[in-house]
Amino acid sequence: MPVAILKKRRLIPGQTSELTLDASHIARKARPGNFVILRVSEKGERIPLTIADTDPQAGTITIVYLVVGKSTAELETLEEGDSILDVCGPLGKPTHIEPCGTVVCVGGGTGIAAMHHIAKGHKAAGNRVITVIGSRCEDLLLFKEELSMFADEVVVTTNDGSCGMQGFVTDGLRMVLDREPSVGEVVAIGPVPMMEAVANLTRPYNVKTTVSLNSIMIDGIGMCGACRVVVGGEVKFACVDGPEFDGHQVDFARMRQRLAAFKPQEELSWAEFRRLRGQEA
Ligand SMILES: Cc1cc2nc3c(=O)[nH]c(=O)nc-3n(C[C@H](O)[C@H](O)[C@H](O)COP(=O)(O)OP(=O)(O)OC[C@H]3O[C@@H](n4cnc5c(N)ncnc54)[C@H](O)[C@@H]3O)c2cc1C
Ligand code: FES
Repeated sequence: MPVAILKKRRLIPGQTSELTLDASHIARKARPGNFVILRVSEKGERIPLTIADTDPQAGTITIVYLVVGKSTAELETLEEGDSILDVCGPLGKPTHIEPCGTVVCVGGGTGIAAMHHIAKGHKAAGNRVITVIGSRCEDLLLFKEELSMFADEVVVTTNDGSCGMQGFVTDGLRMVLDREPSVGEVVAIGPVPMMEAVANLTRPYNVKTTVSLNSIMIDGIGMCGACRVVVGGEVKFACVDGPEFDGHQVDFARMRQRLAAFKPQEELSWAEFRRLRGQEA
């Protein structure tokens, strides 16, 4: 069933957009941590995207995506009033949220938007929420205002120091962990190297650390095996067993290897897409 785009916000023009979708069937059921899989066109690839927010009353969900290849570039061609061919969800296990005192939610790049829904869920459960967000520079920083509306503290890091603390999210997280002896959980969403660095940092602090794995997915319902990851020495399917896992147990090296498996084909198809649209390849 086609799903209408009610609103499009260009967060970083040409790179990252936020879409508000008319999807009451998903908004009613979606919980923090869930994702959707959408297709822009009949022959389009299936694109998994985290649900960044929901408004069950209005019947809408929000997604935020980074343009990294052909399918996300195709999605970026759609405007307010257009429709997405199909949006399937909510998928994946929702985040396990329980009262646990202080939770630190770490987001890097587009992962900040994905983390937003989870941080909101922890706040609603009565936890004290500290968010640590980071990007290369201030212009690429997402959701700072949105998080400030409910988080108890927003720690900002930028690589060039143009906003907040100069450095990486791990520098901000280390500062918080050194200061706060009673952090109940750290949740990290962002690029794989970032989530791996967070898990390595929290290990000696002995803090429960949850990461959300963006492995390559096709069906999203546990049938194809594309999304398999190794966690605690066991094979898991990120779409149905996750996408959230204990960061201290994830085999990140295997994950990186699998994510890069189709690199040559992905580069070819994006170059062809840009050639057909008269853009530079
Ligand atoms: C559960 C989950 C939630 C996600 N949430 C978000 C989100 O909220 N925002 C966002 O910007 N991105 C998110 N992603 C990643 C997003 O799905 C990919 O960036 C997108 O599919 C890339 O497609 P492409 O054709 O534009 O790029 P391609 O050129 O095809 O691929 C670029 C890179 O994206 C990854 N990728 C490609 N195809 C897939 C696929 N089918 N599934 C997963 N990763 C793929 C690979 O690492 C690849 O190297 C999520 C992925 C998963 C699994
Ligand atoms: S995407 Fe097919 S099993 Fe997970």
